Amino acid sequence: MVTKLHIITNESIELDDFCDHIEQNFDLSDRQQFLAAAPALRKLANNKELFRRAALQTLKAALDPDGFNIAPAYMILNDHRPSKFTVRANLWPALRPGAWQETRDIFSYDLKHDHTFTFLTANYFGPGYTTKVWVNPHAGLQAMKIGDIADLQYQGEFQLCDDTLLFFERFTDVHIQLPPVADSVSLNLVLRDPEETMYPQHAFETDSGKVVAYPNGSPLKNKLIFARLLATSDDPELADVLDWAAHKETSRVHREALLSAKDQILARAA
Ligand SMILES: [Fe+2]
Repeated sequence: MVTKLHIITNESIELDDFCDHIEQNFDLSDRQQFLAAAPALRKLANNKELFRRAALQTLKAALDPDGFNIAPAYMILNDHRPSKFTVRANLWPALRPGAWQETRDIFSYDLKHDHTFTFLTANYFGPGYTTKVWVNPHAGLQAMKIGDIADLQYQGEFQLCDDTLLFFERFTDVHIQLPPVADSVSLNLVLRDPEETMYPQHAFETDSGKVVAYPNGSPLKNKLIFARLLATSDDPELADVLDWAAHKETSRVHREALLSAKDQILARAA
């Protein structure tokens, strides 16, 4: 269930002070401690220099002919220091009528989805987005297959704004992001967990809990695409490698994809 936190403060802190404060005082794997970090994230969201600096870095990257690899949907703010968490600015453009579907896809608008990570989010700029939330009470550390049906229960519509922070738990909280009425930016504190690469993010049918896809961009999705490409080979040696990799793999979904690729190669080679 998404947790709504009402926090008002005019205080502001620097990014490194925020990171030090979180590293030294909070174990974000503990839900209560993560929630207790909300005032600090609100103070960071009051620091309007952050975005200026991050935007400048991104613009410089966009102007570098060798480094043109910008992500339009978000900017990582703390990649200058290793940490168990990520501070991320997410961009939420308002959409003009007739906006391309591609633009909607980049920002995951209208996509009913869960997340492979837990995060706390504060509004940073603009009016903030509105989101419809469902709860998957039976979600666990277990990938659902395409076609599986989750028992999603509608929790309601939430508006992110300056005095309202939202806390989303991985897999449990499912949402549809609606484009804001004016361009907005949110600031996320994201708990990084090496395990998150083992599980897919799920996309659901809009009107039900049916899993219809694994959205693009997640590490596991990339591995599954790679396994599908390997499956087109007719090299039996590659089938051996896939078998070896499958037995080392701890993610059930990835293991099954590797074994399926192996079977397809062997069937072709036979
Ligand atoms: Fe989301």
